[in-house]
Amino acid sequence: MRIALLLFASFGLTTAEDGLAGWLRYAPVPEASSYHENIPSLVVPLNATEGLPVFTAAREIVDGINGMYSKSINVASARTHDDDPTITIGTISAYTKECGCLSDLPELIDDGYYIGILGSDVLILGQNERGVLYGAFHYLERLAQGDIPSTSFASNPHAPIRWVNQWDNLQDGGTHGSVERGYGGDSIFFWDGKVRDDLTRAGQYARLLASIGLNAVVVNNVNANETIMTEENMDGLAKIANEFRPYGIQLGLSLNFASPELLGDLDTFDPLDEDVIQWWQDATDRLYKRIPDMAGYLVKANSEGQQGPLTYNRTLADGANLFAHALQPHGGIIMFRAFVYDHENLNETLDWKADRANAAVEFFNGLDTAFEDNVVVQIKNGPIDFQVREPVSPLFAHLQTTASAIELQVTQEYLGQQCHLVYLAPMWKEVLDFDLRVNSEASAVSQIISGKRFSNTLGGSAGVVNVGLNSTWLGSHLAMTNLYAYGKLAWDPSANSVEMLQDWIRMTFSHDQEVIDVVTKMSMQSWPAYEDYSGNLGIQTLTDILLGHYGPNPGSQDGNPWGQWTRADADSIGMDRTVWNGTENAGQYPEEVYKMYENIETTPDNLLLWFHHVPYTHVLKSGKTVIQHFYDAHYRGSAVAQTFVSLWESLKDKIDPERYEHVLFRLVYQAGHSLVWRDSINTFYFNKSSIPDEAGRVGNHPYRIEAENMELEEYEPYLVSPFEAASGSHCIVTSDNATEGTAWARLGVETGTYNIAVNYYDQAIGNSTWKLFLDDDMVGDWKGDLEYTIGRAPSPYIDGQTAARITFRDVHVKEGSILRIVGTPDGKEPAPVDYVSILPMNVVD
Ligand code: GCU
Repeated sequence: MRIALLLFASFGLTTAEDGLAGWLRYAPVPEASSYHENIPSLVVPLNATEGLPVFTAAREIVDGINGMYSKSINVASARTHDDDPTITIGTISAYTKECGCLSDLPELIDDGYYIGILGSDVLILGQNERGVLYGAFHYLERLAQGDIPSTSFASNPHAPIRWVNQWDNLQDGGTHGSVERGYGGDSIFFWDGKVRDDLTRAGQYARLLASIGLNAVVVNNVNANETIMTEENMDGLAKIANEFRPYGIQLGLSLNFASPELLGDLDTFDPLDEDVIQWWQDATDRLYKRIPDMAGYLVKANSEGQQGPLTYNRTLADGANLFAHALQPHGGIIMFRAFVYDHENLNETLDWKADRANAAVEFFNGLDTAFEDNVVVQIKNGPIDFQVREPVSPLFAHLQTTASAIELQVTQEYLGQQCHLVYLAPMWKEVLDFDLRVNSEASAVSQIISGKRFSNTLGGSAGVVNVGLNSTWLGSHLAMTNLYAYGKLAWDPSANSVEMLQDWIRMTFSHDQEVIDVVTKMSMQSWPAYEDYSGNLGIQTLTDILLGHYGPNPGSQDGNPWGQWTRADADSIGMDRTVWNGTENAGQYPEEVYKMYENIETTPDNLLLWFHHVPYTHVLKSGKTVIQHFYDAHYRGSAVAQTFVSLWESLKDKIDPERYEHVLFRLVYQAGHSLVWRDSINTFYFNKSSIPDEAGRVGNHPYRIEAENMELEEYEPYLVSPFEAASGSHCIVTSDNATEGTAWARLGVETGTYNIAVNYYDQAIGNSTWKLFLDDDMVGDWKGDLEYTIGRAPSPYIDGQTAARITFRDVHVKEGSILRIVGTPDGKEPAPVDYVSILPMNVVD
């Protein structure tokens, strides 16, 4: 007899392949029916309260099994007496109460789960409700792989803090809730300075995050607006928390340190002032009244214009403890950021010893024992700012009594802004596995942040994710591997990069082996390729650090107080961070690591220029000179990026058209932009060093026709800044903003089939259009609307950020034909063109 069938509204899974469901599509697995016998047909949730995780877990199991195995599964409030195989789910305490004790249950900590396989029955038990949901998602994930668990196992999280940070603004001048360094559209939480009425996406986001073991989201920007704490916004935040709660996701909040003055009516925000202390206590109490399960706060203080305790000559610990005390009665945590530095007074020219990389250890010096127990210092993985390669932050070795968490960036701020495929798990794993050798003992970063190395109860990870309203969440389908892997690594840093990726591919795209192989190949090559065509040997990403952090601009690194210096001159390059002659940053590392970095012989090549200043002719361990390594790496990396297009195209019949086209568009763009990177960086350093490329490639482009050398009508040459962002330093722009321009040239190539590439600039100040003709035939036309379609930071300038390429493939060209480009300006965008390449098959230039 079946007892009280529970009714669960299912999610109504989306059929459009627009990315919204992420990896939780619950698409049919191959040969699903052959597994039917091994999958129970009943779910019994033991302590399911609507709106809480056990209830959600039951619903996910029903939807998942229905979707993946076309098997309907019932839900009952108790076990049936017939022989229906059953999935029983609940917390350990509910199970013990209802069904007695399990003698051989492994020890579970908070959020941990146990999946018991008892003949044809399945038991999914959690240490708490959240653990039940994690167990259910894990079980479903195995089913999604076509891998029905046949043995019991338990899993515990590596660390208690597995948070997401969203850098969402409440508004952005107008009504939008924009996302700082977000490339997937407007905020899913905020609009017009307030919390959105429709928070559907907040719930869907929580579902994705819970499925990979994450447990909290800080919903607003670290550059926090004090109005987040108005009564109205507190009410709104409670609504977000309500959307999160069914998934066990807790809400966290970024605070503006100066709020008592900016929002309250105090004339100070001194953390030791009695009124300030009371102000924060009251505000915190009001928040917790609305959101009793709130996770806590995140604070960016005394950094990049944010106020903090140093304003009043108080210590960072005084600042952090202010919030710690307010949170203690409620069991909340304060994540206090280590990203503290003075971006106004660093002086590269005058001070060889100045170094932003030293800031965190210096600012936290002497404070290790000064923080309250509910303070966790949140440390970016490297000492500067999410560059393509950085050593591990030395601060991880200095905070021992104080708990720490690692901050990783899922949003690819310096790593191609989701317009370049860069799978980050291999990079994160290098960081997590790095052994700092504190006191000459094993001290992997992963062991420090878990709290195990220094016996701290708190610790973990914070991932800056920055999803937006775009249905793909991050702006790119493939970028979701990074969110997926971030969650998996926060739960278990020993997870394997390829295995995580392939699990994700099966759930997101297909079980087809070719799809798995191709996406794996592209993804695993992507970080090395990006490093190759951006910044090598630890010189940082070499992107434009003054504007959008996108596209090449090596000159922008130096000569300003932002401290992302390269100290490149005509003869030499690199930051001397040695103790004997440099900024002494190497000395911030524990002895064994310090010795490795101090000595040029033992510094790995990939961090050489991070720690040492050397001539361009310095010979690397590979036998190449630094400059030749730059040239070769840029050619190699951009060549790899070209292959992503054809690799993806080989999957045309195996991927739904919606996602196939979306991904293809980005990969084509990346292939073009990787050449912009290659040429800009190589030209810049060739110009600086005057050392030619041994292979004769740099500055030598036999297939190109420079636009400024064509016959021009209503188009005129324009000197691009920085010069290296244009082939031959110049592009052409229309003579005014209203008149169509024409550029033409007679082609000297032999008659045959060619690819024709046009490099142009797509600024965010208009939507110019271009037409390309061969004699009287139009080869193609295009529009400068990338600012709407690609998601990277918009820019009004003609530079490496806006440079783009379009390629027309397999074009029949006759010797002596006239090639003509007609550009129509729009708004303030003057239809800029850099060059045209007439490329024989298999040549890229
Ligand atoms: C980077 C980023 C900023 C951000 C800051 C931070 O500098 O460009 O947008 O505010 O990091 O992490 O606080």
